[in-house]
Amino acid sequence: MSQIVLLLSGPNLNLLGDRAPEVYGAESLDDHVSAAAAMADRCGLAIEHHQSNDEAVLIDRIQQARRRCAAIIINPGAFTHYSWAIHDALAAFEGPVVELHLSNPNAREPWRHTSVISPVATGTIVGFGGHGYELAVEAVARLLAR
Ligand code: DQA
Repeated sequence: MSQIVLLLSGPNLNLLGDRAPEVYGAESLDDHVSAAAAMADRCGLAIEHHQSNDEAVLIDRIQQARRRCAAIIINPGAFTHYSWAIHDALAAFEGPVVELHLSNPNAREPWRHTSVISPVATGTIVGFGGHGYELAVEAVARLLAR
């Protein structure tokens, strides 16, 4: 059976395609999840995706991934910048964690320059738009093959 990679999408990412397309692109979240799933399939992995606008739901998903999922790819949306609770949940996960952003938060407003997720991420992919989803899966596949 394929190893499961948990792909988590935080608040407002359900609006992708409609919300600020000049920043986040015209593709929907479903488009990105499909691209991630296709790449995962090519790498012999399986994607399990959940989106939530609720911090507690995301934390529950991370906790439920312990000893069940091989890796986590997470775009925490605005929680990136202040959710120490998501930070702590990810710190308790034993596998690789990839932090993913469509835009490059470091090139945007100053409040987006801080990520409380980065210190517990194995690596971070930012600024490549939708292509970042495939890059993140590829990164995870390489980490798991080590
Ligand atoms: C984002 C960047 C965050 O600053 C923002 O709050 C988002 C999306 C991104 O993918 O570029 O909701 O995580």
